[in-house]
Amino acid sequence: MREQPFGVTPDPAYLYASRTHGEALASLSFGIQDNRGFLALIAEPGMGKTTLLYQLLEELRDSARTVFLFQTQCDSRELFQYILNDLNIDARGMGLVEMHNKLNEVLFETMFARKRFVLVVDEAQNLDDSVLETVRMLSNFETHHTKLLQIVLAGQPGLATKLAQPQWSQLRQRIAVLSHLEPFTAAETACYIDHRLKVAGYCGKPLFEPSAVSLIAERSEGIPRNINNICYYSLLIAYVLGDGTVTEEPVLSAIEASSFARRR
Ligand SMILES: Nc1ncnc2c1ncn2[C@@H]1O[C@H](COP(=O)(O)OP(=O)(O)O)[C@@H](O)[C@H]1O
Ligand SMILES: [Mg+2]
Repeated sequence: MREQPFGVTPDPAYLYASRTHGEALASLSFGIQDNRGFLALIAEPGMGKTTLLYQLLEELRDSARTVFLFQTQCDSRELFQYILNDLNIDARGMGLVEMHNKLNEVLFETMFARKRFVLVVDEAQNLDDSVLETVRMLSNFETHHTKLLQIVLAGQPGLATKLAQPQWSQLRQRIAVLSHLEPFTAAETACYIDHRLKVAGYCGKPLFEPSAVSLIAERSEGIPRNINNICYYSLLIAYVLGDGTVTEEPVLSAIEASSFARRR
């Protein structure tokens, strides 16, 4: 193996297209190609939102100018600052209006360069109402013919709850694509584990016994981050015990170890 197959960083090289992950990625890509304006991705923590967004950005690298925003506990002024900084523009000392105009300039430049402009906001459930309103206003940047930017809002189910409130109905109506990620089925969990091992460079005999895989599928509840934690510890424990394959026993110890790690 070249590297640790069950790390917890959102590395898109490991992306496994489960039914819902595959569908979400396709709808987001398609929505952006189609200039839909507003798109959203909702899922519980650990389900793969950030990983999927990184993959999306990777796919857009040649055809779009992109900004990835993850510091969402900010005010509107900081929001503009993050966006401009991400575009390598020094926004120090600029007022809101100036930053707004600067962004408008970049959007036109991008349009003339025949590229799309995509703003991705991760952890959008944390956005303050006033900042979410600013994001909504950003989508008003458009010419008579076309939208100048596409906005992807990704977040936990709290984001969906928020968007369901009457005060956000205008924004909700503008969201053309709303994707959800759902936990892996048991069969997907098995494929996912194989997939990660393969990407990490493993090509030997199966490392996890089928009964161990079933147990992981059940106890992880199909949440990729849990699967990674359990697999990571199971492999470690089996290795320490000198076992070539992972049986149910190390998986049970791993579940204890990883739920302990989560509690801390
Ligand atoms: N479909 C997937 N394919 C490969 N790895 C995934 C997938 N979904 C989640 N993961 C892995 O699970 C962990 C949590 O994913 P992450 O993208 O951080 O979730 P979220 O942003 O929804 O909290 C990461 O290690 C990530 O690589
Ligand atoms: Mg995330």
